[in-house]
Amino acid sequence: MPLLAIESSCDETSAAVVHQGRVLSNVVSSQIGLHAEYGGVVPELAAREHLRNLLPVARAALREASAEAGQLDAVAATRGPGLPSALLVGFKAGQAAAFVLGRPFLGIHHHEAHLYSPWVKGQPPAADFSSFQPNVSLIVSGGHTLLVHVRAELDHRLLGATVDDAAGECFDKVGKLIGLPYPAGPEIDRLAEGGNPRAFDFPRPMISAPDDDFSFSGLKTSVRYYLHDHPGLLDDTQRVRDLCASVQAAIVDVLVAKTVRAARRLGVRCVTASGGVTCNRALRQRLTAACAREHLALLLAEKTLCTDNAAMIGILAERKLRLRGEAASFDADILPNWALS
Ligand code: KG4
Ligand code: ZN
Repeated sequence: MPLLAIESSCDETSAAVVHQGRVLSNVVSSQIGLHAEYGGVVPELAAREHLRNLLPVARAALREASAEAGQLDAVAATRGPGLPSALLVGFKAGQAAAFVLGRPFLGIHHHEAHLYSPWVKGQPPAADFSSFQPNVSLIVSGGHTLLVHVRAELDHRLLGATVDDAAGECFDKVGKLIGLPYPAGPEIDRLAEGGNPRAFDFPRPMISAPDDDFSFSGLKTSVRYYLHDHPGLLDDTQRVRDLCASVQAAIVDVLVAKTVRAARRLGVRCVTASGGVTCNRALRQRLTAACAREHLALLLAEKTLCTDNAAMIGILAERKLRLRGEAASFDADILPNWALS
């Protein structure tokens, strides 16, 4: 009973086939190269690229899964949030496919899908919800920093979000100040490895605030002022490494402290993390250490499932079909500003 899932909310065109919690294929075509020269995602270009890539990607996903379109039992696509023109491509294609096949169609919330991606493990990847337990889930990407209380499967409450820049956005904007290409997160991660995280004392915004919100724009501004006052710094490779390590440490400190604190306050015994920034090695290490100290189980999304992908859309869609028999109308529209709760 395979399900075809499509993701096109931002700059990754992805299609996956899932079957009873197993990911049979997960094809991702990234547009990073296309947008790099503009220093960020250009919505119109993203939509055109999705149009160009969607059918080849979907065909490849079916081929890898050894599935025929006629064998599909359902189709799902990301309904929101995301770039309107980008979402439209995958969502409308998914609806049309389901309509023609006479199968149910599901419109999936992109962040709700991230919430369950840490439960997908192994090679080939498969979801294991048998050990599911209530958790606090951190979603950190280029566009979002969210802390969510997942009380039970398909039952969650948003605890906090970024009030300005997301964590990934902060990595990317600091990288731009240093002269790194977009997206700068992976390169800062790499440069930070040879740097001293205590070399510069950057602020940890809102780390002690009683709420679960985040703010990273002040950190970016501190780096800008520091570089303005120390113009020669970027010529010294070791100082650049120290700067990357110090900025990374400031971001990671806030993410880890607020996530663990929320878990403790809510009395859950499990923490999960997903989204592109969850690829960051310091974040993975620090969350692992903090959760071990607090006796919290930790599930980190596997790196290939941290960044945007259709497998997570398919896993959640299948779960919704199974637990709730949910399906959307063929007339349903995209929801670019769809709130999580
Ligand atoms: O989830 P994602 O692929 O796309 C969305 O924004 O939805 O996340 C991309 C973000 C970018 O900001 C990128 O710089 C960041 O994730 N990122 C990282 C790392 N890998 C990706 N940030 C820090 N360290 C990394 N290793
Ligand atoms: Zn995402």
